[in-house]
Amino acid sequence: MNIATPHHAARRPGSPGRARPKLDQKAFERIAAIALADAGLDIAPSKMAMVHTRLARRLRALGLADYEAYCSLIESPEGSDERREMISSLTTNVSHFFREDHHFERLVQEVLPGLRKKIEAGQRVRIWSAGCSNGQEPYTIAMSILENYALPEQADLRILASDIDPKVVAFARRGAYDERMVSGVAAELLEKYFTRQKTGTGTTWVTSQQLKRLISFRELNLLKPWPMQGKFDVIFCRNVVIYFNEETQQELWKNFARILHPGGWLFLGHSERVSEHYLDLLSPAGMTTYRRTDTPGAL
Ligand SMILES: C[S@@+](CC[C@H](N)C(=O)[O-])C[C@H]1O[C@@H](n2cnc3c(N)ncnc32)[C@H](O)[C@@H]1O
Repeated sequence: MNIATPHHAARRPGSPGRARPKLDQKAFERIAAIALADAGLDIAPSKMAMVHTRLARRLRALGLADYEAYCSLIESPEGSDERREMISSLTTNVSHFFREDHHFERLVQEVLPGLRKKIEAGQRVRIWSAGCSNGQEPYTIAMSILENYALPEQADLRILASDIDPKVVAFARRGAYDERMVSGVAAELLEKYFTRQKTGTGTTWVTSQQLKRLISFRELNLLKPWPMQGKFDVIFCRNVVIYFNEETQQELWKNFARILHPGGWLFLGHSERVSEHYLDLLSPAGMTTYRRTDTPGAL
């Protein structure tokens, strides 16, 4: 490349012999600032190598020669689609069926019995899987309910499954998992709630309509205003806030408290805790579990 060539003009995807672009401190900081502003992701400087690994393929896909050009793109108004791609690349989507299963036991043994009257009266019961990744969490919730509770005809119980990443939401909606991904599902549940499809590369297990009917999948950024109208009885937001800084977490505790019914349940991931400041609204109720207190006017 001629040294006078502007960075953004250097679009030669896959040209042989090209050196791998280097991510320097300045570009890392520009990327981290956008990840924080757009998605709340708090990326520590120690994660620079991870950012480099995940974004190198974006640079290749766009045919950009270096991170300077990439930063200019994502900071420009035309870069909004790429900013979404970037967030999608930087989020961690690891999940599995029946992860931290004590929460599903609690759901079956305590939460659902407490909601029984509402369910049987046909009143609105809402469960939210916030940060649902590829769908293992909302499908596990649905299986736990159907396995243990004969939902009456008039039941108005629904699960909202949301994530910022449109790719995982599309995956979750389709509900097609390979053998490795369903390894945590008991054989009898697989037979009952999935259909087996043979593919060229192996077996795919697709979630049944019975499960899908209970769930609405939606793209939703927890940092942006929430479009939901009514309140929730249960929120699972597990292994999501761990990527956020304290300030963003505090904002979320307040918003979760706002959108939960008094007595409503909040389940967090194994290393997440509601900050002390909000414990009067979200009272500890067991392992990484909280309940909305009945404190009218507190918010
Ligand atoms: C590690 S997964 C957790 C999946 C599931 N809750 C579990 O515990 O297995 C974290 C998910 O949070 C999502 N996420 C990250 N930032 C988000 C944001 N600002 N709004 C909504 N979802 C977000 C990611 O896209 C990712 O799918």
